[in-house]
Amino acid sequence: MDELVSLCARRGFIFPSSEIYGGINGFWDYGPLGVELKNNLKAFWWQRVVRERDDVEGLDSTVIAHPRTWEASGHVEHFSDPMVDCRTCKRRFRADHVDVPCPEAPKQRSVAECDLTEARNFNLMLRTFIGASEDAASTAFLRAETCQSIFTDFKRVREAARQKIPFGIAQIGKAFRNEINPRNFTFRSREFEQAELEFFVHPSERERWFEYWLEQRVGFHRELGFGDDRLRVRPHEPDELAHYAKAAADVEFLFPFGWQEIEGVHDRGDWDLSRHTEYSGKDLAVTDEQTKERFVPMVVETSVGIDRTALALLCNAYQEEALEGGDTRTVLRLHPAVAPIKAAVLPLSKKLAEPVRRIAADLRRHWNVFYDDAGNIGRRYRRQDEAGTPLCVTYDFESEDDGQVTVRERDGMQQERIALDGLEAYLRERLEARP
Ligand code: GAP
Repeated sequence: MDELVSLCARRGFIFPSSEIYGGINGFWDYGPLGVELKNNLKAFWWQRVVRERDDVEGLDSTVIAHPRTWEASGHVEHFSDPMVDCRTCKRRFRADHVDVPCPEAPKQRSVAECDLTEARNFNLMLRTFIGASEDAASTAFLRAETCQSIFTDFKRVREAARQKIPFGIAQIGKAFRNEINPRNFTFRSREFEQAELEFFVHPSERERWFEYWLEQRVGFHRELGFGDDRLRVRPHEPDELAHYAKAAADVEFLFPFGWQEIEGVHDRGDWDLSRHTEYSGKDLAVTDEQTKERFVPMVVETSVGIDRTALALLCNAYQEEALEGGDTRTVLRLHPAVAPIKAAVLPLSKKLAEPVRRIAADLRRHWNVFYDDAGNIGRRYRRQDEAGTPLCVTYDFESEDDGQVTVRERDGMQQERIALDGLEAYLRERLEARP
């Protein structure tokens, strides 16, 4: 994990927010490679969940919603962790996590043996004020999950898109939680992104759709390259269900710090639509046109953390590989769909810069392509291996005469001579092939 964290900073994937001020705990910035990785992951999710289906619509709602939203959703009342304070060092701990060494005297006692207060609930929602005054009436919340606006916008979206049950609404966006103990790099952050789908179904069909979406979502992670040895489904025990959930299963990934949730699939029942109906006074039930039955749809939710999945992708891809001759290379074996740079184009010598810049410009109409003429070719290949670039295209002095380039593949390092006029098709085949 330490090596990966340092690679992420050095190569500009992910590093602490406000780093020059010493960082801010639980907040992370994505640099040039990181933002591409994240955007690719979001685009891939959007493609599979929204674009390829005619029963899912997209949405982009605000981070701040009407504060009543969070009363109706149950977050104001329930979205909290029980916390205890140490009377000596004034630190705060989660009441269910006191079996850890005391930060003041780690060799002598656990936190449980400190002078602790009674447990009190600590709400995890971040707050702000709207307008000029700073009082209870102007308090608003930064959303703790993106899905609530999907419920409050449900009627509008369904009517505008002329959808009938079953159908879903999907959204990707930032969520904020005042996590008490942000840790494991980006895994538990205070600002993060979620990609959520709320799928509205008839009450008689909720179990079937829950199973369907769980299978779809596991398939998605497999497609990204997570093998069975690092991916598993863990159904929730009844006592760990969130306040809104009737049933839930976590999709877990084996991180260097253990098995951890990257996605939750939840049967939310009619909790959200019923509560928003109650709190807003607007009826969110639907009528089945054939049977004329009026009902509140049940919701099956799939909620994946973009940052957590990006971290899982990096952990899954990272490898230090021994090469012949005692050399080693660091390589990120990222799936081409999420790789930040799809191909690097490299003139063997700076004298060949001009035609290679033209090739780069051509290819950039389709993909993120990197031009690099600095340093020897071996070093340039290594830099691309570390960035997870699936293919390198090298233009040499022979290319001038035979109109061919060498394409080097990241994982096996095989090289192949390809005619320039077939290069685009060759790259497409390798970068966009579906399993
Ligand atoms: N709408 C349901 C919901 O928010 P959740 O299990 O609390 O459910 C869903 O969150 C996903 O969001 C998690 O599986 C995780 O990937 C991501 N997530 C939640 N809290 C996070 C945090 N503090 N940092 C990074 N990702 C987080």
